[in-house]
Amino acid sequence: MIDKRIDFDHLRQDFPILKSKNRNKPIIFFDSAASSQKPIQVLNAVNDFYQKDYANIHRGIYELSERASLLYENTREKVRQFIHAPHANEIVFVRGTTEAINLVAQCISKNESGEIKWQAGDEVILSEMEHHANIVPWYLLKKQLGIVLKIIPVTDEGVIDITSYQDLFSSRTKIVAISHASNALGTINSIKEMIKIAHQHQVPVLIDGAQAAPHFAIDVQALDCDFYVFSGHKMYAPTGVGVLYAKKIWLDNMPPYQGGGDMIETVSFTHITFAKAPHKFEAGTPDIAAVIGLSAAIDYLQQIGMQAIDQHEQQLLQQAEPALLSIPKLKIIGTAQPKVGVISFVIDGIHPHDIGTVLDHEGIAVRAGHHCAMPLMNRFGLSATVRASFGIYTNEQDIDALVEGVQQAVRIFS
Ligand SMILES: Cc1ncc(COP(=O)(O)O)c(C=O)c1O
Repeated sequence: MIDKRIDFDHLRQDFPILKSKNRNKPIIFFDSAASSQKPIQVLNAVNDFYQKDYANIHRGIYELSERASLLYENTREKVRQFIHAPHANEIVFVRGTTEAINLVAQCISKNESGEIKWQAGDEVILSEMEHHANIVPWYLLKKQLGIVLKIIPVTDEGVIDITSYQDLFSSRTKIVAISHASNALGTINSIKEMIKIAHQHQVPVLIDGAQAAPHFAIDVQALDCDFYVFSGHKMYAPTGVGVLYAKKIWLDNMPPYQGGGDMIETVSFTHITFAKAPHKFEAGTPDIAAVIGLSAAIDYLQQIGMQAIDQHEQQLLQQAEPALLSIPKLKIIGTAQPKVGVISFVIDGIHPHDIGTVLDHEGIAVRAGHHCAMPLMNRFGLSATVRASFGIYTNEQDIDALVEGVQQAVRIFS
């Protein structure tokens, strides 16, 4: 194994925004789970594309459009490698995790011709820790079709209860949709085991990888998941692009999600034939520049190495959690192992928004709220937590500043 030591402090120079200010203080960014900052390599790739190679894709018969199309399609191959998918045509570009889950919910419940094949009483298994993006699309389907949502409980530590999970399967179960890592707790779920269990019941599994893809290596073949979805903007790429990986058999058997240009073979007013996947699912002009930016972000992450990124974030967790826990009345919500670099906490007697406001005045950006996981907050009897989430630019000094800022909030509000 190559001993690859990365100077994470040096790497901060790649992020121009870290020279920017928050409340006139140097910015200390702890909201990467919401959206990460962008390295100059990604910004330059987008800029270069607009300045040198920009044209619409898949349409022009001129060289510039061919160049843009090639850059776009090369990114598909790069994403394939990044998540170790078998074929590039199993990679669909979407706007983000949210769109990918909506696509799957709407399309998997229909046959290839678009006729609804699920029935009232069919079941979808979700967990109590899902982001709203992995609840609402299924709730909409429940409203449309009368399906039933079955919810896997989460333990006090913030772990999915596998025994309860096993008990939720029935002959009506149509899909399991669960997060790889929780945005509100940091928990990395035992998805490999969960996928295996679902497959024993012949049930497909969708993995919401929004909080996994930025932090550690993904291997969809090793996981054997049916769908894997994630957002570019959380992994140092621009907003506007995300990925839906789906096994070919699903893409072939699902109808298109949206209709428009670029997803058809032939069109008349009486009959339309569709392009093959992935194009069947990419109607209209996509965010081409964001896709090019995603390509640069993957290059950037792979240059550092996902293993090194994971190790860096684990070290920061080891520094941050005991330091925060030394603050009286502070409780971390989500104490599972392993975790990604996400720490949710509350302090008895101080509202999370007040802590967030004190930190903001110190230049420290955290999230305070329900983190788009209201059912999870209800599970813990909370309306909100403070969440500090790490990126590759987070360093030890940031953690020190966070701990000091929280101590100051305690002094102010106690
Ligand atoms: C676990 C998880 N799933 C889904 C999403 C939704 O992602 P997007 O808003 O990029 O579609 C998020 C965003 O925070 C998330 O953390």
